[in-house]
Parts: sequence; C-alpha cells; structure tokens
Amino acid sequence: MPPDLPLARILDGKALAALIRADLAKQVADLKSKHGITPGIGVLLVGEDPASQVYVRNKAKAAAEVGFYPREVKLPATASEDEVLAVVDEFNNEPAIHGFLVQLPLPTQVDPQRVIDSVEPSKDADGFHVVNTGLVAMGRGGVVPATPLGCMELIKLARKDIAGLEAVVIGRSNTVGKPTAQLLLRENCTVTVAHSRSKDLAAIVRRADIVVAAVGRAEMVRGSWIKPGAIVIDVGINRVADGRLVGDVAFAEAVKVAGAITPVPGGVGPMTIACLLQNTLMLCRRVHDLPA
Ligand code: GUN
Repeated sequence: MPPDLPLARILDGKALAALIRADLAKQVADLKSKHGITPGIGVLLVGEDPASQVYVRNKAKAAAEVGFYPREVKLPATASEDEVLAVVDEFNNEPAIHGFLVQLPLPTQVDPQRVIDSVEPSKDADGFHVVNTGLVAMGRGGVVPATPLGCMELIKLARKDIAGLEAVVIGRSNTVGKPTAQLLLRENCTVTVAHSRSKDLAAIVRRADIVVAAVGRAEMVRGSWIKPGAIVIDVGINRVADGRLVGDVAFAEAVKVAGAITPVPGGVGPMTIACLLQNTLMLCRRVHDLPA
C-alpha cells in the first residue's frame, strides 16, 4: 500500500463567518451607542421554495444576532409582479431599511430582471443591480455580491498573495461566476471562466492553482481534475437522492489532492450570509456619511 497522502487543509467557512459576525456585532453596537443608528435589512421571500425558506430564515436570524433590525416580508407563490414591485418600493422608501434583497428564484409569473432593476442601487445588499454590477466591473466601488465576496475571503484564508496564480471559475452566472472572475482579476490572477459549453473542462481545471466551482451539479468536479496543492472553493449546494447536501466538487476525492478546500455544508454558505450583513452595514454607513 502506498503511504497516505496528506489531506488538504479544510477552509472552515462556518468558523470564519462566526468571526466576521462577531466583528459586525461590535460595529453595530458602536453605531447604536455613538450615533443612535440601527442597521436595517429587508428580506422578501415569494413562494414556498424549501431551500429559499431555509436561506431567508438563516439570513434574518443572523441579522438579528448581530443587532440589525431585520424585516422579513413573505408573499404567496401566486403573488403578481406588481405585488412584488410594491414591496421593493416600500423597502426603497423606508429609511429604517439600509439594504435589502429579494430572494431568488422568483415564481415564473415574476420577471427577476424587472424586480432587480427596481431595487434602489444604494440599498442593493445583494449587489445584483446593473449599476452595482457596472461599478464593480470597472473597479469603481459599488456593492460586490455576497457569495463572490465570501469566496475571496476563503481564498485569502488559504493564501494571502494570489497575484499571478491561474484561477479557473466554473460557471458564468451574473450572481457568482462573473463577479468572482472579476474579483480574482482584481487580485492579479490569470482568470479563465469555464462553463457548460467549454471543451475538455478537466484539462482546463487541471491548470488551476485556484478553482471556484459554481455550476449547481452535484460532485461534477472530480479529484483527478485537481492540480496537486490547488485551492478549491465549492459554491454548490446540491441535495442528492439519499438526502445529503453535496457540493459541485467530489469532496472525498478532491480533499486528497488539493492544498485547501471548502466543505459543503460549512464552507461558502455561511460566508455568503456574513458578507451580506457586511454589505448592509456598509450601505448603512454610506447613507449616514460615516467612514467605512
Ligand atoms: N438565491 C440563492 N442565492 C441567492 C443570493 O445570494 N441572493 C438572493 N437574493 N437570492 C439567492
């Protein structure tokens, strides 16, 4: 038998997110005592999608724990687009709400683009509005979406200086793939964005010092695709037939090859929530002209 290879370092998103939330709680307490301001976050859930219900509950719970004022609004799955837009309008105009999000996906009768377009960019906690997308793409500020922010924090936990490294992002969504690629580029990585039409994905991934998998297909990225020592960030959360939650990466295989890897659950997921709260606090400071 060959000797066992060392296993990758596990990038503990749950622990890092707890540290970020503890720091946020301190900042919120300070804002309250020095300025009498309580950051407010709005969350709109339309319908009864079970995964979305869990996400929204976790977001509101985390927000309350760090001292935010959380306002949750739920609409039935039959809600019209106008009803959804009316809640967005209410959040846009409510001074106690500093940032908010509309949980995606939305029921088919509601156009998500119209909804996102109607969010006031200065309250766009998700960073999905085209104004924020544009500012981030230009490196001119804006709100960076929470999941890409969380991915970058986890990469930095593995390695401080990533300049010059080969990064491969699998997935080209506006919410994760594209903004993550931009953040990696900003850190001077050489970035490849692979997607469902890419030829020989395994060969592309084998080049990568950093892999970010955001495709939504259970265990698609195999251990044999991973360059030894690579940093592997798994954004996927997929429920498989036996009820387990697994990522887009075959963890048991990849952990034997990678240098560092995020688990699912307990990797990117908790970081997304912590970064969403960070975004909302930033928007709150901005509207009150307080330094970051
Ligand atoms: N659904 C899955 N992830 C997200 C997210 O980050 N934001 C929103 N609004 N909906 C989601």
